[in-house]
Amino acid sequence: PGLDVLAKRAGLQYFGTAIDNVVLNNTQYTSIAHNKSEFGQVTPSNGMKWMFTEPERGVFNWTAALEIVKPARKARQLTRCHAFVWHTQLPAWIDHTNWTKPELVSILENHIKNEARAFKDDCIAWDVVNEAFNEDGTYRETIFYKVIGKEYIELAFKFARKYTPRKTMLYYNDYNIETVNNKSLAVAELVKDFQRRRIPIDGVGLQAHYTVGRSPSYQQQMDVMKMFNDLKMEVAMTELDVRQPTLPETQEMRIQQAEAYRDAVKACRDAKNCIGVTVWDFWDPVSWVPYTFPGQGNACLWDDNFNKKEAYYYISDML
Ligand code: XIL
Repeated sequence: PGLDVLAKRAGLQYFGTAIDNVVLNNTQYTSIAHNKSEFGQVTPSNGMKWMFTEPERGVFNWTAALEIVKPARKARQLTRCHAFVWHTQLPAWIDHTNWTKPELVSILENHIKNEARAFKDDCIAWDVVNEAFNEDGTYRETIFYKVIGKEYIELAFKFARKYTPRKTMLYYNDYNIETVNNKSLAVAELVKDFQRRRIPIDGVGLQAHYTVGRSPSYQQQMDVMKMFNDLKMEVAMTELDVRQPTLPETQEMRIQQAEAYRDAVKACRDAKNCIGVTVWDFWDPVSWVPYTFPGQGNACLWDDNFNKKEAYYYISDML
């Protein structure tokens, strides 16, 4: 049995993967990506981001997203949708204009409206806002923050609720919030504030981009999920990967990586409110890590030759 089969038996809703467009011509890749016994859920790594979906103002393009969503429909895999609002991978037309607040609010609403409708039958969840906080818990000064103010976050959630079906879960998603720290506490405050003022929010996505030697413990991950459970928030591990800080890796580093993967999945399995785990791609050659963190890598469950690593077996043995 594959990881999704085992995860479901263990009580999770799915085990999933991000899928990137650049390797869709590789049939070895696609046959694993859309193998429902390994992955019951997919997330387009890039195809739903603003630069691809609204390359010109009011001009929408779903091609890249559909390249992943269509085979997922066929394979009966669930889709998590990522992401309506994020400060990077924005189209140039947004960055290069001095918008007034009403203009940018209207751009935000129109974007969410069109994209929500295009994928209305596909998304079990939407990452409505991605990475809005700094490490110290202050707001990241994105173009949305600068022009609209911190209300851009609640506006995005209100628009998302207005244009998605009721059953679509609306998530706030971020990295380095997998332990109780200043950033995750800021997210908890955002949730409490939303609840007091009846602004819709259903879940918190823990990206879980980890590094060997620095990954959070099982207990730390359990504690933060409990903190969100006390606020009635569903959680998911939305972008799990565990990168090597230096290459080449030793066998010992491979085992440490396997333990970090296992502890993350185990924490999600054991936490009351964690519904599933998504790895941020399963194949090293398409991982975002080497491009973003030069010198680091080998972060995925399958190696360059499509062999499953120790980490895969540590997860499957634990589940
Ligand atoms: C990454 C993609 O995987 C890359 O292909 C792209 O070049 C940059 O973005 N956090 C997120 C994801 O929320 O959207 C990012 O995805 C990885 C970090």
